[in-house]
Amino acid sequence: MKRVAILISGGGSNMLALLRDMASGGHPCVPVLVASNDPKAGGLAKAAALGIPTAAVDHRPFGRDRAGFEAALLQPILAAEPDILCLAGFMRILTPEFIRRFEGRMLNIHPSLLPKYPGLHTHQRALEAGDAEAGCTVHEVTAELDAGPVLGQARVPILPGDTAESLAARVLVQEHRLYPAVLRRFAEGQTVPLMLA
Ligand code: GRF
Repeated sequence: MKRVAILISGGGSNMLALLRDMASGGHPCVPVLVASNDPKAGGLAKAAALGIPTAAVDHRPFGRDRAGFEAALLQPILAAEPDILCLAGFMRILTPEFIRRFEGRMLNIHPSLLPKYPGLHTHQRALEAGDAEAGCTVHEVTAELDAGPVLGQARVPILPGDTAESLAARVLVQEHRLYPAVLRRFAEGQTVPLMLA
């Protein structure tokens, strides 16, 4: 069994999708920790309610001291001895030093069809570009933001009258399908990208 730690910053809907899938049997992974940079992240209570150990390290007191924040965040993560790290709505940029510790076994879900729209406000940017479709990508995390090897993608149509909110909601449904499917495959050494329609 691969031990999985999940990092969140907010509500953790992707975290929940991963936890539910790991609990549904026949899964090569077991969740060992949910950690957040925000002690008030709604996902922490959801994880605790499912009996998953949680940890929170507020990044704000560290100010611009990214290394200091990451050293504190690493404590509970290393104590949980994860094999795989899943970033799920984690909104802090990690330093190359942190990433190097987990390179090759750290995943992230990004709400665009990478390499299009790395960074923020992805749905607004797709709408403004007049794209016909949008979607989400699960990729390996490397030092370059939102640019690691793609492990899976799911596509949705952009519909007339779509707003960033309506598009985000449509993509989020696919995120909750894609991330669990990719984690299962990744844990079994399958890295051929999974393309969901
Ligand atoms: C999602 O759009 C995800 O793609 C992005 O953060 C948003 C919220 O994620 N990374 P969650 O509901 O906290 O999992």
